[in-house]
Amino acid sequence: MDEFKVTPWDVEGLVDYNKLIEEFGTSPLTDELLEKTAQLTKSELPLYFRRRFFFSHRDYDKVLQDYESGKGFFLYTGRGPSGPMHIGHIIPFFATKWLQEKFKVNLYIQITDDEKFLFKDKLTFEDTRYWAYQNILDIIAVGFDPDRTFIFQDSEFTQIYEMAIPIAKKINFSMARAVFGFTEQSKIGMIFYPAIQAAPTFFEKKRCLIPAAIDQDPYWRLQRDFAESLGYYKTAALHSKFVPGLMGLEGKMSASKPETAVYLTDDPEEAGKKIWKYTLTGGQPTLKEQREKGGNPEKCVVFKWLEIFFEEDDKKLMERYHACKAGELTCGECKRYLIKKVQEFLIDHQKKRKEAEKQVEKFKYTGELAREQWERSIPEPLKG
Ligand code: TRP
Repeated sequence: MDEFKVTPWDVEGLVDYNKLIEEFGTSPLTDELLEKTAQLTKSELPLYFRRRFFFSHRDYDKVLQDYESGKGFFLYTGRGPSGPMHIGHIIPFFATKWLQEKFKVNLYIQITDDEKFLFKDKLTFEDTRYWAYQNILDIIAVGFDPDRTFIFQDSEFTQIYEMAIPIAKKINFSMARAVFGFTEQSKIGMIFYPAIQAAPTFFEKKRCLIPAAIDQDPYWRLQRDFAESLGYYKTAALHSKFVPGLMGLEGKMSASKPETAVYLTDDPEEAGKKIWKYTLTGGQPTLKEQREKGGNPEKCVVFKWLEIFFEEDDKKLMERYHACKAGELTCGECKRYLIKKVQEFLIDHQKKRKEAEKQVEKFKYTGELAREQWERSIPEPLKG
């Protein structure tokens, strides 16, 4: 009954994630795969996996097999720099960091200043380059391994174009239109762009694993159509759900509605006020009713945020759930708890972000070194 929509540009309505698995033709992330992940990494799973924020995949089973057999794999993810990053943008990067740390693999991070310039009428190239730098600081602040992490910005790492050419020859307009809904009015740069986003899946001659929100899956579906014909692996993917904005569980946190998002650069004080003022809870209209009937954590953004990211402790989360249902908690109490958690996170993140200013060069995949690395990693079919 609930209508919802998920495309790389738009997420609307209350998303039914099981339906999405069917619609997109992906596979559910099973207990078995998660147990195998824990076993291979000899680690406890972080909450993003335990609580199924990552809920779907393509070929993740094969990635684990490749790891087990010693073939290895590599990670790829990205960010479209259209503005400041918020909490919803950064959570998949934390999950990616965990995977890199545990599997000790290379990670490539694509910053698509070209994409955002081409797709967003209002943004100039100067704007998207500015946001690229700002976003890179937030990404570095997550704490990736500098020896295994390569961040590149499309407009600087122009070698990406060479790798996109053979890909662009594999995709005809009607395929791209079917997947992305292009029209007669679409700019030709937009139509070429999917080749640029697919290129990093070929950076190493190993299976590529992409942890990202499920709205990016159309790109991977397309890549999987032609990858083998170019002598590569079909890319694997781990799909996350969306983080809701403060004002409701529908859609996703949106940069275009600043009062519904908490930005990584928000002043912690201000962020606290925003959460206090705007967050939708599952509470009853009066305290009396709240005490009698209990609240509704399923419909509460505060609870969602705790579940997705801000409450590490499973036991505490469950206690809060039951206490809310039993009418023992007020929404004010929960909001104050979340605010404290968010503020602690922001203070820590902003400190690391400041330190990241000195680390940018270390992480950048560009210039001579990039060229060398790239040539070494060009798989045979592309060399000739
Ligand atoms: N298209 C993505 C965005 O709009 C950016 C991106 C490029 C990306 N490559 C990626 C995201 C790989 C996830 C994984 O944000």
